[in-house]
Amino acid sequence: MIVYLNGQFMPIEEARIPVLDRGFIFGDGVYEVIPVYSRRPFRLAEHLRRLQHSLDGIRLQNPHSGQEWERLVNELIRSGEAEDQYLYLHITRGAAKRDHAFPKPPVPPTVFMMSNPLLTPPAELLASGVGAVSAADNRWLRCDIKAIALLPNVLLRQMAVDAGCAETILIRDGFMTEGAASNIFVAKNGKLLAPPKDNFMLPGITYDVVLEIAQANNILHEVRKVAASEVFGADELLLTSSTKEVLAITTLDDKPVGSGKPGAMFARLHGLYQNFKRDVMRKDAASAGGGVA
Ligand code: PDD
Repeated sequence: MIVYLNGQFMPIEEARIPVLDRGFIFGDGVYEVIPVYSRRPFRLAEHLRRLQHSLDGIRLQNPHSGQEWERLVNELIRSGEAEDQYLYLHITRGAAKRDHAFPKPPVPPTVFMMSNPLLTPPAELLASGVGAVSAADNRWLRCDIKAIALLPNVLLRQMAVDAGCAETILIRDGFMTEGAASNIFVAKNGKLLAPPKDNFMLPGITYDVVLEIAQANNILHEVRKVAASEVFGADELLLTSSTKEVLAITTLDDKPVGSGKPGAMFARLHGLYQNFKRDVMRKDAASAGGGVA
């Protein structure tokens, strides 16, 4: 497997970072996950925009221009084995003597990228849906930053795994924020409900696509705070992420969600999402990539 580290592509076995890297010591960095279909990055400009937002959020200068990122990303995609991949981009504040405050003068950031095969949910999982548990959202107040410091998310996701489930739905002050590593939508009486993009959730790229699809296809939808009671009383629950795309949640805390089967809203949105993906990829192919602004 070929990875990228600080200006060079190399076999992963050769990639080394100093133990004093602030990513290792403090979790002082940010990341992105970008899906790639047929060797074309999906919504690259949007992912790079979110990366910039995360970097701004931790006051770290972007080491590359949009064009440089595009070139690096495309080179990484070429080195990957699979046609469909997920790219992981990771930037830390670099290696320096351990001190909480930023190194002065600044040190070069650590830039790491890797590609893995993208394994979207198999047909059986799409047909059955997945289980979820609920938990109090005990993360910090800047969940809009895609920070590599993911210990709360790790512990919250493990709660789901320990219960034989796929995701943990997070509740803060009586409202649903998101999943441990996904965004969550509620469907009730034919309407899709989505929490607003604020500091309590990651502004998901897949979340945006789903709302655009809903808008374009006259699916009733509303972006507003979603009460925990609406989650527990939902007809359907959906999770979205770059690697899971759109998936139905069919049990919550061991109880069936609605009918306990993936419902009409899931079927509609999942189908439209697949069509959208195919259309975008076809369009990108026709215009040879559709660059990053
Ligand atoms: N996670 N919320 C959280 C906390 C996430 O970690 C993710 C994605 C999302 C969905 O965002 P997007 O649609 O842009 O993938 C929401 C990625 C996949 C990860 O950490 O592996």
